[in-house]
Amino acid sequence: PYIPVIAIDGPTASGKGTVAQLVATQLGFHYLDSGALYRLTALSALRNAVALNDEQALAKLAETLQCSFTNGDIFLAGENVTLAIRAEEVGNAASKIAALPALRQALVALQLRFRTAPGLIADGRDMGTVIFPDADLKVFLTASPEARAQRRYKQLIDKGFSANMQDLLKDLNERDARDANRAVAPLKPAEGAYLLDTSNLTVHQAVEQVLGWYADVK
Ligand code: C5P
Repeated sequence: PYIPVIAIDGPTASGKGTVAQLVATQLGFHYLDSGALYRLTALSALRNAVALNDEQALAKLAETLQCSFTNGDIFLAGENVTLAIRAEEVGNAASKIAALPALRQALVALQLRFRTAPGLIADGRDMGTVIFPDADLKVFLTASPEARAQRRYKQLIDKGFSANMQDLLKDLNERDARDANRAVAPLKPAEGAYLLDTSNLTVHQAVEQVLGWYADVK
């Protein structure tokens, strides 16, 4: 049977993850946090002292990534790294290695395997453009840099990390520029994507908007 997909792309800390998970719960769909795969590869590289520009070695790491997603927790080779992959250092490393084509290619099959019945909601940078170009609904979620830095700040503090707004804004702008300007799978709205600016929306409003669009297209 046909398995529907909702693709949600957007810049870092735009609220994609929160919105996507709530929509997944509402619809009873599976959820793919594709950014976590880049973060897992980055964490693995940092721990094994693999250089962040060694494309072949990184692709190999990605291909042999021993990860599992269970009840919202993320495991790498049996270790719970749910929190560890959220560190800014890991996010920055993830965004660097994400520019390497062989590494991205190595993660494609893994991402496609998340598409199982009754449906999938996938969030990332290239869900609608590259990984699931046939998605039933594509959403490009944005928010102002200030709103995003504030959200990331709160997320980090809530998780017990230290954070500084000025550094976060700088990181965020650098990461946006890297994600949008890379040659392979750059961050951009997919053709036919619905744009959703969440700067002035509550999480509930954003979720309702996505559910409304999905009801219209399905
Ligand atoms: O979304 P998150 O901040 O967890 O992603 C970490 C990094 O992984 C991003 O900055 C981006 O460079 C990369 N990424 C990507 N393609 C995706 C998801 C994430 O390039 N589909």
